[in-house]
Amino acid sequence: MFKLPDLPYAYDALAPTVSSETMRLHHDKHQAKYVDTVNELCAKDGSSPASLEDLIVQAHAGGYNHVFNNAAQAWNHAFFWSCMTPSRTAPEGALAQAIDQAFGDQKGLRAAFVKEGEGHFGSGWVWLLHADGGLKVASTHDAANPLIEDGVVPLLVCDLWEHAYYVDYRSDRKAFLQAWFDALPDWTFAGHQLRAVADKVEAWRYPAPVTEPVRRQA
Ligand code: FE2
Repeated sequence: MFKLPDLPYAYDALAPTVSSETMRLHHDKHQAKYVDTVNELCAKDGSSPASLEDLIVQAHAGGYNHVFNNAAQAWNHAFFWSCMTPSRTAPEGALAQAIDQAFGDQKGLRAAFVKEGEGHFGSGWVWLLHADGGLKVASTHDAANPLIEDGVVPLLVCDLWEHAYYVDYRSDRKAFLQAWFDALPDWTFAGHQLRAVADKVEAWRYPAPVTEPVRRQA
């Protein structure tokens, strides 16, 4: 079964950009529900996937939309938590160069990221991706994520579902995205993701499933 990973920081660590109330709801209710549903669906059909990544790819290929949506949402949220840090960072080295090459500079990336997220219709995710030898910004609808596309590696993501910002920003998604981009991205993490591409090693993965403890008979 898949476990709900703990947040890598305290609930209030990202305040005031993202409040403790939002983080509690988002992690403890929304993501927890996705993880629980994935485990229920796997138990129902007797499957025990080796990884959440495998399950996402297989469910997408097989057209099992309910499994895919819940598995991808579990993955996207865990990745999202890893993309943020309470300590401000800045892109460095190869990542900074790749940003300059693709967007002119960091301001150009900010403008593209906020514009893509603000303009995205409905729920979804806005990503900074490595694809075709360079960086690009793209959004995906609902639960969709880059794992289903060959050769695409996510460096950073921001949640566009209203539950991510409604408590703190009401319907002002643009204000959320601007504040988020200026304060919370973990550029060190994004740099590690890019390094994984360059080194041809595996990028970030969801924690491996665990075997439920066997109960001893009395
Ligand atoms: Fe979310």
